[in-house]
Amino acid sequence: MTHRKIFLLVILMATGLLFGCSNTASDEAASGRTVIRINIDPMARNLALTEDLARQFEKETSASIEIIRGPSDATERLAQYMNYVGAKSADIDIYQVDVIWPATLADHLIDLTEAFAPEKDEFFPAIVENNTIGGKLVCVPWFADAGVLYYRDDLLKKYDLPVPETYDDLTTIAAAVQEKVRAEGNADFWGYVWQGKAYEGLTCNALEWQKAEGGGTIVEHDGTVNVNNPAVSSALKRAAGWVGTISPPGVLTYQEDEARNLFQSGNAAFMRNWPYAWALGQSPESNIRGKFAMAPLPGGPGGRASALGGWQLGVSKYSKNPDLATKFVMLLTSAEAQKRRALEASMLPTRTGLYDDAELIEAMPFLPAMKAAFLNATPRPARQSGTRYNQLSSQYFRTVHRILSKQIEADEALKQLEESLPAIMGSGN
Ligand code: GLC
Repeated sequence: MTHRKIFLLVILMATGLLFGCSNTASDEAASGRTVIRINIDPMARNLALTEDLARQFEKETSASIEIIRGPSDATERLAQYMNYVGAKSADIDIYQVDVIWPATLADHLIDLTEAFAPEKDEFFPAIVENNTIGGKLVCVPWFADAGVLYYRDDLLKKYDLPVPETYDDLTTIAAAVQEKVRAEGNADFWGYVWQGKAYEGLTCNALEWQKAEGGGTIVEHDGTVNVNNPAVSSALKRAAGWVGTISPPGVLTYQEDEARNLFQSGNAAFMRNWPYAWALGQSPESNIRGKFAMAPLPGGPGGRASALGGWQLGVSKYSKNPDLATKFVMLLTSAEAQKRRALEASMLPTRTGLYDDAELIEAMPFLPAMKAAFLNATPRPARQSGTRYNQLSSQYFRTVHRILSKQIEADEALKQLEESLPAIMGSGN
């Protein structure tokens, strides 16, 4: 190592940048304020709003809010959180908790029942129930998500094609639009983009395909494993057939934002994503502003299925300032903040009253339909698997990814999956 490099290393260590480390005591001594750190997904529009609310909170309290940007891949984010909580780290005061993690993180989060008692009834009861583990409210619903279909309204009109009702329709219509747009000279145009990387997002996509096909929900309410049946097999074979035909081969590495970037650049006819993509697609810098619309995901013999997503905020049991952290969670989840988050970032409220808000409905005419979408959305089997959900989902999305990338034949892979899941679920049979 050169002297210059050693010098740089010393500077980085001294400023704490190298290890992203925090020293709460000295931070506080330096600023005279209590530092509260929140770890969130830096999704563009929500980050800006959270920063704004942090500055507002700082004016009203003695806190200094630091926003730590966690990974946007939910699977990686959980791994990061497990490192923090495993070490009982006080470095993070507030965690952004996926709808599938309350059981996994419950032991590391404080009970917010009392703080939220006066407001509890204003939230979707099902999400409150989801976030209540062993009688304790371990996190507060922040924004709600459900999978939706985005489509290029202008192109469907131009080519006189309908919005697909089923995945078979989608396959045909996406191919038709792709062929026509390519014939007009855009060789980079694709029919359908979605989330195909081996991570939590693929569990959501594949659950939607398999449920719509009539193949069940991975683990049913009574704990029965349901992955090895002809409907699941045909849903996954159809999806494998999209890769390299109507979907770019790279879709197998796509998360939400890769799909959105391609769709927003104007190079895809259809996209499966969450509501956040709406505000970004309609922004002045978007190539598709005013050219696209949103619809329910297609269905099949099993009806339509939309995975239930969404994020909560929980306060770490290891936080040195849980009261201030709780107050900040109250601000971030307040009706005013949720209304702004919906208007500015199209991240949808967890407070039911906002679905009747005239200003919000005017800005997002699809809002009332989304309330119904949340109420009917398909939960991932987190209730059934509890703290083992991540293991279960990882096994599922890895299997699906191998099928999609044609490393293994669907029926064989599903048989193996069916055999391996009961052990993860803990029943052993
Ligand atoms: C969205 C959903 C979340 C899901 C994730 C998967 O962020 O809100 O529930 O786990 O996507 O990528």
